[in-house]
Amino acid sequence: MATATMIDGKNFAARLRTGIAAQVAQLKTSHDLTPGLAVVLVGEDPASQIYVRNKGLQAQEAGMNSFQHRLPATTTQAELLARIADLNADPAVHGILVQLPLPTQIDSHAIIEAIAVAKDVDGFHPVNAGLLATGGDAMVPCTPLGCLMLLKAYAGDLIGQRAVVLGRSNIVGKPMAALLLREHCTVTIAHSRTRDLAEECRRADILVAAVGQAQMVKGDWLKPGATVIDVGMNRIPTPDGKGRLAGDVDFASALAVAGAMTPVPGGVGPMTIACLLLNTLTAASRQHGIPVSEILPTAD
Ligand code: GUN
Repeated sequence: MATATMIDGKNFAARLRTGIAAQVAQLKTSHDLTPGLAVVLVGEDPASQIYVRNKGLQAQEAGMNSFQHRLPATTTQAELLARIADLNADPAVHGILVQLPLPTQIDSHAIIEAIAVAKDVDGFHPVNAGLLATGGDAMVPCTPLGCLMLLKAYAGDLIGQRAVVLGRSNIVGKPMAALLLREHCTVTIAHSRTRDLAEECRRADILVAAVGQAQMVKGDWLKPGATVIDVGMNRIPTPDGKGRLAGDVDFASALAVAGAMTPVPGGVGPMTIACLLLNTLTAASRQHGIPVSEILPTAD
């Protein structure tokens, strides 16, 4: 039985970070400029604390400045808006990320819209979403950007390929579809209300699964040889009670049908933070009118 090529996102992300660190070092030498990333965490959610710490550590490892802002869970919307206004005005800060989800007293749309468009390294601001949809110089959301880099390296020429994006979130599904369209794929967005989801998936040369349902996509939903990118990060129970991480794709059955696929963990996950660093480098360069050269590792 055929076995899919494993797309090693961990290794790919490490090589991407090496390329980013080299450009950061060059910016320092050529323009005396150090990209700065501010990460804002409101409250004490344990998973968010780990993410935020990792974002800061990896920014520092790439030679960037990292500014961590930890605010209490009782922070008001006005207080958070004031903090964002300070960061917008701070010339040492080139990228601002407010970790989501936010406590319920805060309207996340209002917060996202308060971040300066040029510093919106998450790419969640409606202006950046609009620029992406209309072919402008957008800040692109990190997870779909990471998925696209893997596809460019592992899926061959993207032009004309049939791509199915499973999921329609603002963070992954919609920007992923826009990116694939920009690469000249024929794009379908499928979701929980789609009629015959399996049949839609079977048409896909490229399948990006981002629905948040553990192991939903089975091997017999796939076209033989398809490239499968699994964005899912679902915790599922195990007999020892510890639980484990599973993607949206049923790995065991997909392995025999797909041409190439990302594992969970070790696929898309590491690419997300690497692309946050890439966006911070891009933001710093653009804010200083410095051209950005593309960094795109190849398949290993
Ligand atoms: N929480 C989970 N993922 C993300 C992300 O990509 N960006 C932000 N800001 N918060 C998140």
